[in-house]
Amino acid sequence: MDASFKDKSVQRKLSYIMDSPKASNKEILLFSMPEEVGALAKALKIFEDNKVNLLHIESRSSKRSIGDYEFIVEIDTLLGDVAGALEQLRKQSSYFQIISRDHKDGNEETIPWFPGRIQDLDRFANQILSYGSELDADHPGFTDPVYRARRKEFADIAFHYKYGEKIPQVEYTPEEIATWGTIYRQLTKLYPTHACREFNHNFPLLIENCGYKEDNIPQLQDISDFLHDCTGFTLRPVAGLLSSRDFLAGLAFRVFHSTQYIRHGSVPLYTPEPDICHELLGHVPLFADPEFAQFSQEIGLASLGAPDEFIERLATCYWFTVEYGMCRQGGELKAYGAGLLSSFGELEYCLTDKPEIRPFEPAKTALQKYPITSYQPLYFVSESFEDAKEKMIAYAKTIPRPFSVRYNPYTLNVEILNSKPQLENLLKNINWEITRITDALCKMR
Ligand SMILES: [Fe+2]
Repeated sequence: MDASFKDKSVQRKLSYIMDSPKASNKEILLFSMPEEVGALAKALKIFEDNKVNLLHIESRSSKRSIGDYEFIVEIDTLLGDVAGALEQLRKQSSYFQIISRDHKDGNEETIPWFPGRIQDLDRFANQILSYGSELDADHPGFTDPVYRARRKEFADIAFHYKYGEKIPQVEYTPEEIATWGTIYRQLTKLYPTHACREFNHNFPLLIENCGYKEDNIPQLQDISDFLHDCTGFTLRPVAGLLSSRDFLAGLAFRVFHSTQYIRHGSVPLYTPEPDICHELLGHVPLFADPEFAQFSQEIGLASLGAPDEFIERLATCYWFTVEYGMCRQGGELKAYGAGLLSSFGELEYCLTDKPEIRPFEPAKTALQKYPITSYQPLYFVSESFEDAKEKMIAYAKTIPRPFSVRYNPYTLNVEILNSKPQLENLLKNINWEITRITDALCKMR
């Protein structure tokens, strides 16, 4: 019997990249002062007057307000009137943000570090929870030294990968290609009847453009280029398990962390972890769909700086949508989750009357428990990706976070939206877009 793939990505232990906030007594502030001579001196005077020690200071040109400078300051919270200094500084700043705050008496807010630039994702490579060549004792390849050596080769590629580089091409062995072929043959029989419309639209494009076929394992770089052309999504190789926080943060940048190795050939229809068959057959076709890409990015954006319990809830929403989601199309249920589309057995099972079906409601879905070693007893159904995205955006608003974020597709940065000039600029840009659209509509008439 085909054992279903169960992605452990959302089960992963949470961890911060930043040092534990309990490990020190410091706060990091980001602020900018109105453009004037001696702005920094004025800020420093506030700390001096309140007898607050500075541990580190950096300045840079502000991206929020042209001509202004931003200062990043790390302060010692043990000495002086910290609260007084922050209050004065807040009043005099045109922009003020506490980036990270230590826990004190359990009352203080902590904003976990999150990547602001796409190249910050390079830092995740050193934060994996296990290396790709470390296998559990019940893994089919555990006692196979050749397989383990091969897994290390893949893990090394990912570990040394840096943003902007080409993902190295891999020459897959005949055994690996045979494993891929077995899975490909089985699954492609079911796709026309079981997969959603968007999947079946994109799959032939992958055959045409990325070398999807029974006797060829496509290359990650080719797929990444294809996805980039379709939706701006790209792939990054990953060396091992990422925390849920890190994995979801990648989605905020439209980056999907993908494995490159293949499961052990002894049990081709089973894998206890994500592998290239799961990624390429399950995930990739949907990332080429603009609505689905936006939906996935919304989960990622919602996760940035969110408290731990909300990361778990978002990871659960991810599980029940991107991994095990179903949708209704033309009055029929169809699969769009990668865990379903990469498992012959569960793809057949999910459309039978055995599992329970409920509508996707992020607030409820986020709290649902689920098994990871058997088929899902319950699936959540979305009416469309647009509907799912709107629900995710509404849910994201309930996450306690003292700022909003947006992704800037020109700079590939995540922007924190909490300064007036920045919002005014954004509104101005939106107005230009509306003018452009109105003009285009007039011309079409
Ligand atoms: Fe997955």
